[in-house]
Amino acid sequence: MRLTILGGGGFRVPLVHRALLDDARRDAPGRVTELVLFDTDSMRARVIKSVLTAQAEGVPGAPSLRVADDLDDALRGTDFVFSAIRVGGTAGRVRDERIALDEGVLGQETVGAGGVLYGMRTIPVALDIARRVAEVAPDAWVINFTNPAGMVTEAMSTVLGDRVIGICDSPVGLVKRAAQAAGADPDRVEYDYVGLNHLGWLRGLTQDGQDLLPGLLRDGAALATFEEGKLFGADWLRALGALPNEYLQYYYFRRETLRAVQESEHTRGEFLDRQQGDFFARADQSPERAYELWQRTRLEREETYGAATRAASGGWQRDSCDLEGGGYERVALALMRAVAGDERARLILNIRNQGTVPEIDREAVIETVCEVGAKGAQPLPCGPLREDQLGLMLQLKAVERAVIDAAVDRDRQAALRALALHPLVDSPAVAARILERSAG
Ligand code: G6P
Ligand code: MN
Repeated sequence: MRLTILGGGGFRVPLVHRALLDDARRDAPGRVTELVLFDTDSMRARVIKSVLTAQAEGVPGAPSLRVADDLDDALRGTDFVFSAIRVGGTAGRVRDERIALDEGVLGQETVGAGGVLYGMRTIPVALDIARRVAEVAPDAWVINFTNPAGMVTEAMSTVLGDRVIGICDSPVGLVKRAAQAAGADPDRVEYDYVGLNHLGWLRGLTQDGQDLLPGLLRDGAALATFEEGKLFGADWLRALGALPNEYLQYYYFRRETLRAVQESEHTRGEFLDRQQGDFFARADQSPERAYELWQRTRLEREETYGAATRAASGGWQRDSCDLEGGGYERVALALMRAVAGDERARLILNIRNQGTVPEIDREAVIETVCEVGAKGAQPLPCGPLREDQLGLMLQLKAVERAVIDAAVDRDRQAALRALALHPLVDSPAVAARILERSAG
């Protein structure tokens, strides 16, 4: 089986590769035997190739590795495409986040004005990719990691239908942490999770037919042991009666998180721009050290993830088991295995709604629990959403769709709507100034 990674020079590609090596060690049926990387930046592709080569050393049956010269070459004959691109690079992220902060609103990669600007830049490129896949590899499945993952997946689905599936590791991380805090086995629990990407709620967590969530919400000591418990606090979690995705902290604690971001010396984008820039430059100069440098850089990236939201909730260090990585590539590989081998799996994915949340358009992409097999992902039925959850979901879906319209039609009014309707911008005047700055 062949897997193509677009954005193959991406920093987190070695995590996917590591999971492929685990499959090779176990000689897992239907495993990936050929890996093709494509990146518009040949230096980055070269560096990541050095990391992967070192990582595969001594692993029997490791997939073959090739860097493709162009997009069509990368796509032709492939079974799966992972799309993990960053249009505009980390420099683009710095701009998105800074422009928003300069107007006094949150600047973050996927949330608020930063996410809107990033989406507008990314969607035209993602659509071009979707069209090339439809032309050159019409039977391939596309797994989209590219952020903002919900709206990018929705845009790609207008070309690829249900053959594009979006993924994120935040929900699966939440389920795992909550299960452990409730004393349950993360691999045995069933869960009810629904929302949009970076905007969802865990509303039920059952083991052997018993819902563990009410007990967990009552248990202050258990809540204090894991990330979402610390970010939101027991009091607010009990009032909500659910465990929100970590990114909802930007909405529920809007002033506190904005202040924490404003008070940090560097935005996340600035930190990553420097950190990643140093890594690629040094690893390119010393390919024999690329793997070691990558490992060190990855750990530092994990340790500093979410620093501003942690600062806004009292300041605390991440748990060592949250630093290992493993979330995002595990979801991707489980999904790929389920589709390729028709092994049924239950995963939280970004797919078209199809009536799961009746108040939301059937074609709109939502993030929810799906049953996966050879025919792809099917959303499982879910219980009704509370009004506050539905309200936020509808508002953000309107924002995402305005971003898609703005990107596709180069429509300034749609762009203005996307920014001004975002609850973390909330002002047509600020929205107009952000648009002006981003055009300059
Ligand atoms: C989480 C999010 C991803 C994001 C990643 C890295 O896993 O769900 O969407 O890409 O963190 O965030 P960073 O700030 O390190 O780029
Ligand atoms: Mn994500």
